[in-house]
Amino acid sequence: MADLHQFPDISRVLISEEQLQQTVQRIAQEINDTYADAKKPLLMVGILKGSVVFMADLMRYITVPMSIDFMQASSYGSNTVSCGNVNLRLDLKCTNLQAFNVLVVEDILDSGNTLSCILKYLKSKGAQSVRLCTLLNKPDRRKVDVPIDFEGISIPDEFVVGYGLDYNEQYRQLPFIGILDPRVYNS
Ligand code: XMP
Ligand code: MG
Repeated sequence: MADLHQFPDISRVLISEEQLQQTVQRIAQEINDTYADAKKPLLMVGILKGSVVFMADLMRYITVPMSIDFMQASSYGSNTVSCGNVNLRLDLKCTNLQAFNVLVVEDILDSGNTLSCILKYLKSKGAQSVRLCTLLNKPDRRKVDVPIDFEGISIPDEFVVGYGLDYNEQYRQLPFIGILDPRVYNS
């Protein structure tokens, strides 16, 4: 159990460390089952930076052949592609997506704008298949319909941090997902 005295900016724990680990193992099992007979290897594409903690835990339970790569959504910079108001930094090192079943790994699906852009881009590059795995889902905030293939936990519309998720780049290291005290962003 987390001692919240150590984290005064967190008003309460929404998802405990134990629940996160159970969720990660359940998703990994679903992924292993789905790709068990796949003809091509898996390429797990983490969306930086929020997905790194989830991705690092998840990949340790994957038993099918796989490799990893990363992309970043950003609002500026070179080497970008845009759809709507989303810009992507194309950090993928992999150039032959046709050789892979791509699995996008995201921390949280919110409006859906970022993910719909990323999925469209990866499909246009000819991946064998493109699926989405998201740890958290905030369905109340959805603006664009994005099908989820592997879903962790559906959460209410509250701003959460920890386990990779940040506020102003802080709190990513928390081992649980917590609700940030509104005084932090209202002050
Ligand atoms: P979309 O395009 O689905 O973007 O709106 C999802 C991205 O928004 C961020 N996000 C959050 N980050 N706590 C966070 O730390 C939250 O509660 C939250 N809701 C959305 C996140 O970067 C995600 O990738
Ligand atoms: Mg993110």
